[in-house]
Parts: sequence; C-alpha cells; structure tokens
Amino acid sequence: MEFRHLGRSGLMVSEISYGNWITHGSQVEEDAARACVHAALDEGITTFDTADVYAGTRAEEVLGRALQGVRRESLEIFTKVYWPTGSGRNDRGLSRKHIMESINGSLRRLQTDYVDLYQAHRFDVETPLEETLRAFDDLVRQGKVLYVGVSEWTAAQIERALKIADEMGFDRLVSNQPQYSMLWRVIEAEIVPLCEKEGLGQIVWSPIAQGVLTGKYLPGQPVPAGSRATDPTGSGFINRMMDDELLRRVQELKPIAADLGLTMAQLAVAWVLRNPNVSSAIVGASRPEQVRDNVKASGVRLDDETMRRIDDVLGDVVERDPAKTVSPGKRP
Ligand SMILES: NC(=O)c1ccc[n+]([C@@H]2O[C@H](COP(=O)([O-])OP(=O)(O)OC[C@H]3O[C@@H](n4cnc5c(N)ncnc54)[C@H](OP(=O)(O)O)[C@@H]3O)[C@@H](O)[C@H]2O)c1
Repeated sequence: MEFRHLGRSGLMVSEISYGNWITHGSQVEEDAARACVHAALDEGITTFDTADVYAGTRAEEVLGRALQGVRRESLEIFTKVYWPTGSGRNDRGLSRKHIMESINGSLRRLQTDYVDLYQAHRFDVETPLEETLRAFDDLVRQGKVLYVGVSEWTAAQIERALKIADEMGFDRLVSNQPQYSMLWRVIEAEIVPLCEKEGLGQIVWSPIAQGVLTGKYLPGQPVPAGSRATDPTGSGFINRMMDDELLRRVQELKPIAADLGLTMAQLAVAWVLRNPNVSSAIVGASRPEQVRDNVKASGVRLDDETMRRIDDVLGDVVERDPAKTVSPGKRP
C-alpha cells in the first residue's frame, strides 16, 4: 500500500481506503463486514470512511466493533454529518446543534474519542456557513475531530468556506469527498483546480462506479445474483448506470485491463489515483476477496497511451458537467 498526504495537511492516508456505505449494517451480515475490514487491514489499508446516516447509524456501529483491538494511532477514521439521523427537525443539516449532537453519537458508535476527519456530507442551504465552520472549529479545539472537510460541495461553496475560515481564523478545510471515476469526471473542470491551489485533497467515492466498472453487469442480461443491483437500497443508486450503451462500452475496456495484467476493478481504481489531487480512493466491498483485488491498484501508474485508449472507448458516456455537483435545495 502506498500513502499520500490528505491535501496539504500533515495527515497521511492510505491511497486506497475502505468505505462501508450500503454494505455494513444493511446489505451484508456482520461477519462479512468484519471479514472485509480485516482484509483491508491485512492489505495495508489504514483509512476507513463511514457516515452517521449509513444504514440508519448502524454502519458506524459495525465499523466500530470491527476495528476494536486495533491500535487507534494506526488508523484514520473518517465520518460525516448532514443527512437525517432521526425524525426530529434538528436531526439533520449543518446547524451547530446537529453537528454537536451528531459527533457525540458518531464517537459513541465508533467507540473512539476522536475522528481523524469530519466531513460536511452536503452543503446546508439553511445554515449560515459561519455557524457550521465555527462549530467544526470548536470540535477541532475540543479534540473530537482532528481535521475538517466537505463532500460534494461546489467550487464556489468551498471557496466561500476558505475565505470565511481565513477571515475568522477557523481551521481550514483539508479535503473534499466527491464522486469520481472514469465515467463521472465532473470535478475536473472547477473543483480540482481550486483544490490544488488551496491545498485540499480529494477523497473520491465510487471509483469503481459501484461495481459497474468491474464489467460484471452485462448489457441486455439479468444483473448478477448477490450484487449491489439486487440489494433493495443499493439498486436505487446503481440503477442509474444500468444503461446498455454504457455497459457495452465498459465491456470494451476489458482488453485494456488485460494488456496491463490488471483486473477491471484495479484499472478503475488506478485511473482515479493517476490524478495527483486525489489523496485516496474509497472502495467499497461486500466480500473480502473484492478488497484484496482492489488494493492491488495501489502503486499502479497508468501511462498516457492507456488513458487515451480508455477515453476512446468510453467516448460520450463520460459525464463532465460541473453543474452535476449539487446539494439539496432544501434540507432533506
Ligand atoms: N460522500 C458521499 O456522498 C458518498 C457517496 C457514496 C459513497 N461514499 C463513500 O465511498 C465508499 C465507496 O463507495 P462505493 O461502495 O459505491 O464504491 P465502489 O468501490 O465503486 O463500489 C463498491 C461495490 O462494488 C462491488 N465491487 C467492488 N469491488 C469489486 C470487485 N473487485 N469485483 C466485483 N465487484 C466489486 C461491490 O458490490 P457488490 O458485491 O454488492 O456488487 C462493492 O460493494 C462508500 O463506502 C462511502 O464510504 C460517499
């Protein structure tokens, strides 16, 4: 496993991290979840990503239990706040109240005194940005959170937050967590240039497009048994990519992976890691053998010719529109 700085911060993270959205506390049983976490640790992954909202807060509990007994200083644990964690009108968003309450719940469920990175899971249009950033800064001073970041914020929102932090002397954002893969490149036009200039690293989600870039979903065929596309929650997210033209082009990537001696999942992860602004690629897994497959992308450097071949195959199924980075227009 190779390691990178999280943006311009002093924190080192494994360039491949493990995330437990859809899986822990939901799609997979606890023993499979624990096996995936232990496979990740065995393969050198030290960075783990979760969120208060995953599986209605159960994902944090499962991860907390799976990491028990592991030396805390050897791990980087990331979680998030914003999406609803209860039915109350204050159980959501980025108000000072919800941030302070949600971190305490996350720390209890994760069985830790602090998280390494606390991320605003989306932008909250109903809370003044100063209120959110001051609450984040207070958590840093209290030692409950070591670094702060955001997820799926636009370049303009990140820029405003940095300006306020500089004016008010608040801790600066060190990271952004966007969706990024060969198929979804919407951060490249605006977010990456800003973050490179300002020292934020990208911790990218769904680098394998939720499994689509493994090539296991075949055009015109039923989806494979036990895959995310068959999961009651997961299918709602992955179905957007169950398009025959897209799946056909993904099949055409197979010779490119084979020429390099890589699996399709490894090619997909190596593709995002080629971007120097990416600090870590968060992979998901429902089985430990998937983790072992995906981590082998660490250290692989794709050359320009391979990048060109991939672009030629994918053509116009690639999404690049920066306007696709959006947070809800009102609190969920
Ligand atoms: N900030 C955000 O808003 C946000 C949103 C989404 C995700 N995330 C983070 O990003 C993490 C990763 O997202 P993701 O799970 O969508 O990432 P992903 O790595 O693109 O997809 C993971 C899924 O693909 C399948 N898969 C993975 N490796 C495979 C392999 N080698 N062979 C065959 N199938 C394989 C597995 O599903 P099956 O086995 O079930 O098919 C696995 O659960 C999440 O856990 C979370 O931490 C953040």
